[in-house]
Amino acid sequence: METVSETQNSAIRKIPVGDLRIGMHVDRIIQTSWLRSPLVTSNFMVMSANDIRNLMDYDIENVYIDLSKSVNASDAEQESGPSPAVRAFRAFEANLDDFMVDQPVPVDLYQPCERGGFDIVIKKGLALSQDVVNILKSGGVSRLLYPWEQKPLFESYMRNIEKLKAERKLSGYSGPFVNPAAAEAHVRFMLEYRPINPIALVPNIIIGFDIFARANGVISVVFIKNSIMSNEIRAEWIEKNLNLLILKHDLAAYHDYLSNMSKTSKNPESKLAMIRESSRIIVEGLSENPRSEKLMGQTIETVQDIIHVVMENPDAFYAIMKLNNYDYYTFTHSVNVATLSIALGLSEGMKAGKELADLALGAVLHDIGKSQLEHSLINKPGTLTDDEYKNITSHVMKGYEMLRWNASISAHAMIPLLQHHEKLTGGGYPNGLSGAQIHLFGRIVAVIDVYDALTTERAYRKALKPFEALSILSKGLNDYDKRLFTMLVSLIHVQRA
Ligand SMILES: [Fe+2]
Ligand SMILES: [Fe+2]
Repeated sequence: METVSETQNSAIRKIPVGDLRIGMHVDRIIQTSWLRSPLVTSNFMVMSANDIRNLMDYDIENVYIDLSKSVNASDAEQESGPSPAVRAFRAFEANLDDFMVDQPVPVDLYQPCERGGFDIVIKKGLALSQDVVNILKSGGVSRLLYPWEQKPLFESYMRNIEKLKAERKLSGYSGPFVNPAAAEAHVRFMLEYRPINPIALVPNIIIGFDIFARANGVISVVFIKNSIMSNEIRAEWIEKNLNLLILKHDLAAYHDYLSNMSKTSKNPESKLAMIRESSRIIVEGLSENPRSEKLMGQTIETVQDIIHVVMENPDAFYAIMKLNNYDYYTFTHSVNVATLSIALGLSEGMKAGKELADLALGAVLHDIGKSQLEHSLINKPGTLTDDEYKNITSHVMKGYEMLRWNASISAHAMIPLLQHHEKLTGGGYPNGLSGAQIHLFGRIVAVIDVYDALTTERAYRKALKPFEALSILSKGLNDYDKRLFTMLVSLIHVQRA
């Protein structure tokens, strides 16, 4: 039985247990005594001298190792290698492709790091999104490790996945959704509601629109229009980080409210929240009427307002970026990317002027082409088919086509839109630009774009914490500008401090 794969796979070698080293991947062991069969039988990486001793304790003499899966074997042997705690870490390997995207993973996932030891990639309970999988793959990661003691959890997770796959096949459904009805409900929800930020609400004033909250997929009314919202309620909403919503048809009323309130608001944090909210609504309007120079003018104005508040009161920026838990709407994301681009542009030494204004305008418009795509496609959970992926990538040129006829946007401000999916390694789109061919604006927006995608909560999975997102981003570092990436890390670090 054992010789079959040995002859098929040249990376498999039979070696005595005494020759095993930390970092070697054991494909199978050769059992000489069934009575003394160990718990660990196959497919694991040697993490400590203890692992080797265990095998010896069970009278195992020889094992098959897989050289193609063995990592850092020689580094790990060096004296300056991992700490005793890391040496004691015992783990199994899992293929990245075996996981189902957007489904919570019940185990902690690790990856060996270059200096010995292990980096946590995803904490248990979080889901591997397609973005995360893509970043890990672009960094050459194809396998992850989970702790030895979590093996039963991992096995039951895998059995569930197999069951789900079989059920889907039986029902003739080949798409990536686990539950098509839930996916449809999600699209309907995205069409009918818009998220709002409670920091932008002013207490003790009559509010003319209903407010809803979404928790565990259930939407309930939390405020009835034409009544007064107390300070306590507002504070509670902020404190609980609720996903607050209004009906899409109340957007105009909300926008009027924001315009009135922002004029008198003295609190920089509330003011920034109000400006960001109204900027989001204006850009959504522009997406429906991209040739409108009036709307472009308003977009330029609100972006200028954001620049001023961020410059005059950096604390407001940090406070506002902490609250980033509502759903992944294209225009919420756009304003987040613009706000972070302004902060990164300022760290980069840009002054309030044409350059920063063009960067911010381009950032807020970078995904406007997504308004031309099917709603069911944007925010679709799970893996995309090749056709769907191609369709998504078309948002860049669609956005360009929408805005090129608008005389109020400069060629410079188009760069973030055109280049935010280009990668330094040349593997991006639409033009496959590489290295120095990618403008600073393109690099800035690319790093922030993927960072925001990872840290924003979706209806079907939890968001990553800033440092989790940054640690994953660091795996695909060759695709992004390292210097800007480091700057983003320090920016987020200040934000958390
Ligand atoms: Fe995009
Ligand atoms: Fe984006």
